Amino acid sequence: MAHQVIVVLDFGSQYTQLIARRIREQAVYCEIHPYTIATDPELRQLRALNPVGIVLSGGPSSVYDDGAPTIVPAVYELGVPVLGICYGAQLTAKLLGGDVRPADRREYGRASVRVKRADGLFKSVPAGEELVVWASHGDHVEGLPPGFVHTAESANCTMSGFASSERRIHCVQFHPEVVHTPRGAELLGNFLFGVCEARGDWSMASFVDEAVARIREQVGPASAGGRVICGLSGGVDSSVAAALIHRAIGDRLTCIFVDNGVLRKGEREYVATIFRDHFKVDLRVIDAEQRFLDKLADVTDPEKKRKIIGYEFIAVFDEEAKTIDGARFLAQGTLYPDVIESVSFKGPSAVIKSHHNVGGLPEKMKLSLVEPLRELFKDEVRQLGLELGLPKHMVSRQPFPGPGLAVRCLGALTKTRLDVLRAADAIIDEEIRAADLYDSIWQSFGVLLPVRSVGVMGDERTYEEALALRAVHSRDGMTADWVQLPYDLLARISTRVVNEVRGINRVVYDITSKPPGTIEWE
Ligand code: XMP
Repeated sequence: MAHQVIVVLDFGSQYTQLIARRIREQAVYCEIHPYTIATDPELRQLRALNPVGIVLSGGPSSVYDDGAPTIVPAVYELGVPVLGICYGAQLTAKLLGGDVRPADRREYGRASVRVKRADGLFKSVPAGEELVVWASHGDHVEGLPPGFVHTAESANCTMSGFASSERRIHCVQFHPEVVHTPRGAELLGNFLFGVCEARGDWSMASFVDEAVARIREQVGPASAGGRVICGLSGGVDSSVAAALIHRAIGDRLTCIFVDNGVLRKGEREYVATIFRDHFKVDLRVIDAEQRFLDKLADVTDPEKKRKIIGYEFIAVFDEEAKTIDGARFLAQGTLYPDVIESVSFKGPSAVIKSHHNVGGLPEKMKLSLVEPLRELFKDEVRQLGLELGLPKHMVSRQPFPGPGLAVRCLGALTKTRLDVLRAADAIIDEEIRAADLYDSIWQSFGVLLPVRSVGVMGDERTYEEALALRAVHSRDGMTADWVQLPYDLLARISTRVVNEVRGINRVVYDITSKPPGTIEWE
């Protein structure tokens, strides 16, 4: 690997992924590994990664817990700089001979520390200055390990920073990775560039070169005849994966787009325009609308809808793939959070559950997986998409569920009702974008309700269905707040939907957060 690596050893903190993201934002590549790779006395795995720095994350345990996670002290003898954060700091103090006292109670929240030495992490902060930090720690480091000095201290001394500059080991009992530590990025930068002397060689442009080389190596030379097939959904991940693989192997990539009848308005044309017309990708568009709608006829149970769509998608995709000569590889837009969840020792909870994604393809098709986005966070995938020339409009799309409008068209699915929902959804999309709110909202969409109510239009009485408008802010889909959309925007959407869409005569706004609600209605 051409770029330098910082290794984060995960002790189960809810913030571990944030540490990695904050480091990558400063152009230094960073990987998260479970702390268990640092329990073997020889440290084979850790050495093989050849890190320029090691970060020990926070974690929910106390160093006094039975079976509390620990590492071999040899980690501190590798000659590689170490940053201990919260649990990582207490563990460091304990392993290196300091005095760590169990906490009477755990401390969370905003705190203030006074910098004692403008050195190491605090290199850019004059001694004596107070920093606002976010603390979430239990045990308390009473006595420092030999050779360590205090670098920062809180008023009651229960919270501090300590370091041995000579050994390049720096510890803080607060979280520099969270936004509530306003100068956290600067402190991390001091560790990366000051202590680890990192080059800052991680950029999307360099990632493209490395990823292209890796894809070519995996797929083999053109003479070997291997092809990659990629299911395009119109979403960000599969689109970026396809664009990247296309950059690597050109016409040895075949993309398959399945129109399952529950897509948004114009979706098929949208994807075809970008991939076929612009990128000249070998794209097969399968019109399976009728096939899906036949299977879905009279199905109202949400889980049944999901299962049918997932199963049918695999069947359609598989049939098409069989007609592609030399198809030996299947592209998947797996992202880093999914990878970490499967390796992490406790597993961060803050990822969208995998049952939400259509699984089962690789097992069924016996193809080797090409997963070129495995190392990337979502925001990096968007950057990569732009780097590869995908339009901004596409890389900044809001998430859209695999079962599509099927779970937004409540009750029985008919082409007519789906068309009504599509028309309303397009208006919502247009108005949210026109108000310049699209990028700041996690998801905004309409839900067609199988509820009819009476209305008047002109001299006529109407008796039609209602549309629920949903717009939420969220970081990861696990929790969400409804968006306080401006009244004039709500008014415009309502007026336009009722005037322009035959079949809807009433619009309501969903003001439920998650929990207790979910984002989708089904
Ligand atoms: P909920 O409704 O559970 O949704 O709050 C959380 C996030 O997951 C998306 N979602 C799905 N995505 N297949 C998907 O690919 C699904 O079956 C599915 N159901 C919900 C939802 O849009 C939101 O982003």
